[in-house]
Amino acid sequence: MVIQSEVRWVGREEASLIVEVEPDDTIYQATLKGIGGPDFLRALCSLRGQLKGRWKDVPLPQGVRPSDLLLRELLLKARNEWNYPYADAELCHCRCVPTAVVDQAICQGAHTPQKVSAMTSASTACGTCRPDVEAILRFRLERR
Ligand code: FES
Repeated sequence: MVIQSEVRWVGREEASLIVEVEPDDTIYQATLKGIGGPDFLRALCSLRGQLKGRWKDVPLPQGVRPSDLLLRELLLKARNEWNYPYADAELCHCRCVPTAVVDQAICQGAHTPQKVSAMTSASTACGTCRPDVEAILRFRLERR
């Protein structure tokens, strides 16, 4: 079985993964490529070294640095376990804030609703979108 996954922050980091897995779940071959800053490339090299043995035993990055969050997304997408909690392109309708802007703010270090609001202006009017911001925060930052 061949598994493929990609993640991308436009103009910043991106990574692609191709894994060939034997019927017994052993990784036969893995190709992990990416571009980005030094921290991201270090994290990429670290993950590359873990792509061996059983596919389901490859550990998810557990940190909350941008590189950890992006590579965790990459692996979860590869495992078909990326169940992002919000589907619409725009998250905050009062301030016209796209979901991608909120998500990227969280990945860049806005780890509380207040910080997300400060960085994006989401949830700074009626507050209806606040539960969705909180759901994305939990989804991005929880450990699995
Ligand atoms: S929908 Fe976000 S503040 Fe109203």
